[in-house]
Amino acid sequence: MRIAELGQAIGRTVELEGWIVSLRKSGGIRFLGLRDGSGRVQVVARESDLREDDWDRTAACSQETAVRIAGACRADARAPGGVELDLRKIEIVGASAEYPIQPKEHGVDFLLDRRHLWLRADRQAAILRIRHAFTHALREWLDREGFIGADTPILTPSACEGTTTLFETTYFDEKAYLSQSGQLYNEALAMALGKVYCFAPAFRAERSKTRRHLIEFWMVEPEMAFCDLDGCLETVEELLSSALAAVARRCPEELRLVGRDPAELEKVRPPFPRISYDEAIEILRQEGLEIPWGEDFGAPHEAAISKRFELPVFVHRYPTQAKAFYMKPDPDRPEVVLSADLLAPEGYGEIVGGGQRIDDGELLAQRLREHDLSDEDYEWYMDLRRYGSVPHSGFGLGIERTLAWVLRLEHVREAIPFPRMLYRLRP
Ligand code: 4AD
Ligand code: MG
Repeated sequence: MRIAELGQAIGRTVELEGWIVSLRKSGGIRFLGLRDGSGRVQVVARESDLREDDWDRTAACSQETAVRIAGACRADARAPGGVELDLRKIEIVGASAEYPIQPKEHGVDFLLDRRHLWLRADRQAAILRIRHAFTHALREWLDREGFIGADTPILTPSACEGTTTLFETTYFDEKAYLSQSGQLYNEALAMALGKVYCFAPAFRAERSKTRRHLIEFWMVEPEMAFCDLDGCLETVEELLSSALAAVARRCPEELRLVGRDPAELEKVRPPFPRISYDEAIEILRQEGLEIPWGEDFGAPHEAAISKRFELPVFVHRYPTQAKAFYMKPDPDRPEVVLSADLLAPEGYGEIVGGGQRIDDGELLAQRLREHDLSDEDYEWYMDLRRYGSVPHSGFGLGIERTLAWVLRLEHVREAIPFPRMLYRLRP
């Protein structure tokens, strides 16, 4: 049986397998805290109820000792989860002496060096459960809306998001790069299947040591044929709000443990506000954070803009010069592109980037030249503009950045099991 199911076992003796989180002794009674990955329960051991060898074994229950126990389950209104167990039998499965992570404050480097153990802490396990509920809900929504999940390659011959952050590797006698985004392949898949998405790790060799940069992170990237920028933004807001509502329903306790009231997530309902890059520039001017027209925003700019809104806010129509080669210029104003970033509230910055793609072959060829991208590597991508090219759009939603906002994390590193950061490849 698992701890999460104990509510159905009141009045019965059950067997549980798990790890000891705490041991408190008080005369002839010992209180064992037990966790099994599904929850936590208090197990009460009474000397008078137990055989001597079982009683002695409870004394050896140091932190993270793995045990198999039998216990009588009874309701206890004061206990978390409403149940407590009276110990009947205990077997030590794996001893644990001097567990390095103690129930006290540890420095973050100490914890990151022991990430393989830190994951067992209540808060970290709750974050990972929420992460699972979130990614599952994203897939559920996409599935319901008729998107086909199609996988894109990790080993690629060329860049999607600029050549400065490519992770180089060798592919037999050739150079190859780890994927920065599945987007270009997604565009081909959208022409085959209409509405598609990939869900994959992305790699960026960014020399940025900030609270929002990972070297390896996960993105869900939907791509839609016959879809313009407006259609794209509607998809973003529906997908995100529906996934957050699902997380609020499925993980209320985990959310509270991490410090987010589930009711706040239910309030994230469309439509999200939309402002243009030009309007954002005006906000920045008022905030005393003036930047020249044409430059992309940094973290302080995004924070200043998002603080004006309760909901996530779309900033659309960025300057062409600040954005990737594939973005479609606004036909009314070619100096800006039909792109948008979604900025999270509470100063968390960009969590989604996307927009409409260039569908004209000549313009795409010109952009590839301007960005110094070799024709040969993008020949196949050009084909998409030669054979039945249509308006199409898509976006990438960063899983860890979104979770950092949802869970009010100080840093994205807690939103992924094993973070890869500048200067951190281990464990
Ligand atoms: O804005 P980005 O670079 O967009 C793309 O990659 C597009 N090709 C996506 C598409 O249209 N299919 O990245 C998208 C999102 C960002 O908004 C952010 O949430 C996340 O990916 N992201 C990162 N997350 C953590 N660490 C990093 N270094 C990140 N870089 C981007
Ligand atoms: Mg971006």
